[in-house]
Amino acid sequence: MELHIDGSSHLRGEVLISSSKNSILPILAATLLTSDKVVINKVPNISDVNIITELIYRLGAKVERNEKRIIIRAESIGVSPVYELVRQIRASFLTMGPLLARHGKVKIALPGGCAIGTRPIDLHLKGFKALGAIVQLNSGNVIATASKLKGNHIYLDFPSVGATENIMMAAALADGISYIENAALEPEIVDLANFINSMGGKITGAGSNVIKIIGVKELKGSTYTPIADRIEAGTYMVAAAATGGEVTIKNVIPEHLKAISAKLVESGAQVLEGDNYVHVSRNQNIKPVYIKTLPYPGFPTDMQAQFTAYLSCAEGSSIITESVFENRYMHVPELIRMGAIIKTEGRTAIIKGVKELSGTTVKATDLRAGAALLIGCLMANGKSVITDSEHIDRGYENIVEKLNQLGARITRKQNKGIIN
Ligand code: UD1
Repeated sequence: MELHIDGSSHLRGEVLISSSKNSILPILAATLLTSDKVVINKVPNISDVNIITELIYRLGAKVERNEKRIIIRAESIGVSPVYELVRQIRASFLTMGPLLARHGKVKIALPGGCAIGTRPIDLHLKGFKALGAIVQLNSGNVIATASKLKGNHIYLDFPSVGATENIMMAAALADGISYIENAALEPEIVDLANFINSMGGKITGAGSNVIKIIGVKELKGSTYTPIADRIEAGTYMVAAAATGGEVTIKNVIPEHLKAISAKLVESGAQVLEGDNYVHVSRNQNIKPVYIKTLPYPGFPTDMQAQFTAYLSCAEGSSIITESVFENRYMHVPELIRMGAIIKTEGRTAIIKGVKELSGTTVKATDLRAGAALLIGCLMANGKSVITDSEHIDRGYENIVEKLNQLGARITRKQNKGIIN
């Protein structure tokens, strides 16, 4: 799939943000914790959701999907998610905790996902072991067994989002009390805890660095609506600033966007916050900024690529340090093809601003790299093509339609059309 983009856009108008990808994926995994009916509202139509829903269905759960609602009843489910689906997205590994808690046994392939460096699962496994599971690695699979999980203290060496979620889900049905120490603070952790509590779970402290989980015998059915996607919102905020436009980004939680707003303001954009919207505009040149990605509430690694594209046209040199992932600069060679001047050294990128980017053909290598290229192409002079654009559809609902409503000129095409 390709996107064909006419550059030099100025985005204007209003855009409505969808539910959070990084909330809905663990929440869908957590529906496996109960045999009762669970209803999830406002489900975004993105391909990562389709993959995890398919995985849950192929585990044996009853799954109904109508428009924006998914109804799941995981009455009788297997212990081993389908290999091809687990390999497609890393978040499918989040079914390990719920399956272990439900069955006392799980066999799951080592996860796949975005090509952004090594992404180990040692912290997830450390947590399951602390809860009493015996964990083995065998021919690319993880096999874990436990007659009954038992509450314990689990200290995470790094506040991993996925490990915090996986361990929290397993501990929700363990015997006794668990504490996750140095837990991730991301809003999606709080959302997952709220969802589990809506099923009868007893989790407190989510959003702080110690989460207390009192195990319960069983969890019940529930109806739940996930929070808005702060990374989708952040991407439209940067797109508005990058194109010198003026956009109201609606259905957001401004509190979750603080780090993004702060860096946009430093770069010369205006950000006005309302109750559930932010209004972003820019009418002066882009100023260079320093960014270091960090776990929440620090600057999100999932916004690093989009800012790299934006800062390519700053008046001066910006420095980005990627401290969360070890190899997350796949977008840089593509931006260089568009005329950007960027040098990477290890985890640092130095961006020497240029007057303008030029449209050309670039390749999306992962979800956020794809979003960054789209921003670059909207800013660029002339026409561009983004190949492999299906990566973008993993996490952005109706992105072409939403951007076109703001005045962009983007079309989707199946076939190859190279611009030299
Ligand atoms: C989640 C998000 C992803 C985001 C990332 C960091 C979802 C579905 N995905 O991914 O969009 O970029 O948080 O905010 O929510 N690590 C270990 N051992 C582990 C687990 C992680 O060393 O067992 C390391 C990873 O290699 C990485 C860092 O911890 O360097 C952060 O990973 P983690 O917070 O776990 O990210 P994910 O949950 O995979």
